[in-house]
Amino acid sequence: MAAAAWLCGLLWLLAHAAAVASAADGADGGWEPLIRMPTGKGGDAAARAVEEDDEVGTRWAVLVAGSSGYGNYRHQADVCHAYQILRKGGVKEENIVVFMYDDIAHNILNPRPGVIINHPKGENVYNGVPKDYTGDQVTTENFFAVLLGNKSAITGGSKKVIDSKPNDHIFIYYSDHGGPGVLGMPNLPYLYAGDFIKVLKKKHACNSYSKMVIYVEACESGSIFEGLMPEDLNIYVTTASNPVENSWGTYCPGMEPSPPPEYITCLGDLYSVSWMEDSQTHNLKKETIKDQYEVVKTRTSNSNKYKEGSHVMEYGDKTFKDEKLFLYQGFDPANANIANMLLWPGPKGAVNQRDADLLFMWKRYEQLNGESVEKLRALIEIKETVQHRKHLDSSIDFIGRLLFGFEKGPSMLEAVRASGLPLVDDWDCLKRMVRIFESQCGSLTQYGMKYMRAFANICNSGISEMKMRESSISACSSYNSARWSPMAQGHSA
Ligand SMILES: *[C@@H]1O[C@H](CO)[C@@H](O)[C@H](O)[C@H]1NC(C)=O
Repeated sequence: MAAAAWLCGLLWLLAHAAAVASAADGADGGWEPLIRMPTGKGGDAAARAVEEDDEVGTRWAVLVAGSSGYGNYRHQADVCHAYQILRKGGVKEENIVVFMYDDIAHNILNPRPGVIINHPKGENVYNGVPKDYTGDQVTTENFFAVLLGNKSAITGGSKKVIDSKPNDHIFIYYSDHGGPGVLGMPNLPYLYAGDFIKVLKKKHACNSYSKMVIYVEACESGSIFEGLMPEDLNIYVTTASNPVENSWGTYCPGMEPSPPPEYITCLGDLYSVSWMEDSQTHNLKKETIKDQYEVVKTRTSNSNKYKEGSHVMEYGDKTFKDEKLFLYQGFDPANANIANMLLWPGPKGAVNQRDADLLFMWKRYEQLNGESVEKLRALIEIKETVQHRKHLDSSIDFIGRLLFGFEKGPSMLEAVRASGLPLVDDWDCLKRMVRIFESQCGSLTQYGMKYMRAFANICNSGISEMKMRESSISACSSYNSARWSPMAQGHSA
């Protein structure tokens, strides 16, 4: 262990020395001439052969769907779709690590058994997707271990890791629910931004990649990087939303275009389908990272209306945005001569991620037969879910008033820090406050992730754990959280 740390430190020093030297050499990176290579001479086969040269390194990808359940169909559909794009682009299966719960394709509610689609007219994107980490192996811990290439830290799964080298390019794509400072995982605890940034710094310190691009779809996904993401890690990030807004599901029942009538769930997410449908309809040897960002930004904003749309954000190192996308997503020869057009018209309509599961429950309820026990059960499920949401809303509001006074409570909990500041200064404090709350008031659930900012503000105000515990007991002692108890659900932190 000590030896590994020592080696890492040395590599880090060497990397800095190398960076200075190559800056002195001029702007030409190792891969640059390849992009300018005329495709007419030698053709794509030759181009691809050279790309796989040591100088360019290997393309790696980690794809993560952070949810489970048929109501969250869209996140796993997004990730399967991304896998198909990378494979068509020539990224090797051994270099793509997939995290998905894998409870959709063969779910009893899936009208097309064994098939997953990510667009109303889309083809099956489930074929051939590797089951690297599924079910209870989809954890934050495994995700971090995969990224760091640390096999011994992995529990279960294929043990496939990002065993990357200094010349390699890494692409990370994540899709799920989120909240301020957190990304969801189907198995608790959630992924906390403070931990994620630490892992990225460690990966960088080991000099184990050339550049990295990260795309994140989740509510409040900007808060994962705002005030946290360094600019000197050779990592460029875009997120579906800014730190204080929802991201949006799309291709949902009742929308235009709507999924085939037998589907009662959304098929995709707006930011996600925007980048993927863009990648599928462009020559990725010509399109730059910046080009894609602009297209995705416009489409995700709902053509700059920001109604049923969100603000796509950028973080990290913005100096290499003119690199071509094929370095990360590969290149599909079938798209060589495509005239930068979209195959499909963009979705008109989106539902915010937090309401998408209620929409699904309603559709399920409506679909069931008249007097069936199942229908009654579906109704109870909706009622209990709505009740628990209301309980979370009211108990957090109450705790805020107990801590900060009746008038100031709500505004203290909702306060948004100036841009450039992280959500919270002490991430361990945030986790402790979440645990105290859940112990007294029940699990936050996907919906309750939105209250992470309230807990962060409680930490930022220097409230003691004892005071937080007393307030949580006062707010929740009469609530029977039963099925929502962290004993049953686990803790989010
Ligand atoms: C890999 O993970 C193990 C177990 O968590 C840990 O003890 C070890 O230090 C890690 N190795 C490196 C190089 O980080």
